Amino acid sequence: MNTEKNKQIGETLDHLFKDSKYDMVKAMKGFAKGAFKPITPSNFKDVYLSISKAQGEDLVRLIKSNNIQNIVEFGTSFGISTLFLALGVLETNGSIITTELIDSKAQKAIENFESAGVSDLIEVRIGDALETLKNHEDSIDMLLLDGWKDLYLPIFKMLEPNFHENTFIYVDNANMSDTKEFLKVIGQDASYLFQTEFGGDVVIIRKKGAHNIKRVW
Ligand SMILES: C[S@@+](CC[C@H](N)C(=O)[O-])C[C@H]1O[C@@H](n2cnc3c(N)ncnc32)[C@H](O)[C@@H]1O
Repeated sequence: MNTEKNKQIGETLDHLFKDSKYDMVKAMKGFAKGAFKPITPSNFKDVYLSISKAQGEDLVRLIKSNNIQNIVEFGTSFGISTLFLALGVLETNGSIITTELIDSKAQKAIENFESAGVSDLIEVRIGDALETLKNHEDSIDMLLLDGWKDLYLPIFKMLEPNFHENTFIYVDNANMSDTKEFLKVIGQDASYLFQTEFGGDVVIIRKKGAHNIKRVW
């Protein structure tokens, strides 16, 4: 275990969680600027919208106990969730591809990964995930869905050929209406198993046929 690196990631995460406390204020400013216009991702350009620390810690355990190596993340924001993924793959010798639509957020995430000393583990792809993850060739051990919810289904379908029988799909914000629609569609496919975990807000879907899944919850 690389304790020095873990410490560096932990310090970066502490700093980011402190900063994310002001998310609501930043979101309100974004809305005020765009008043009377439809809400777009740019309204959230200064807002983290991150997973919680508890979710991050569960993700780390999930990665380590199932030896997850190849991770794809939809929705980087400023990189909080990605840093938890990095804590996991440090132990499994894995790596992460993460993608973010808004350039300024992606640039900030890249800086955060440098501060945490984990840039070598993370490839950041800037742009629309439907483009940046197109023609993905490698097998995926875990897909973390945490971008705009109406894209969960097309992204899932696009990457489905890269899933194997032990692939995890971690779905954040399972209680949101677009996510529910997505889950309804996937739930009709008998080749997937659902596990609602972490306080019911997250669903883990995995391909059926996996016999050695180690639960961490
Ligand atoms: C909920 S936030 C991600 C939070 C992050 N996973 C974390 O926990 O720190 C969702 C992010 O998805 C990004 N996003 C939205 N649509 C996208 C798209 N089509 N392609 C890539 N990123 C997108 C947004 O800009 C936003 O930063």
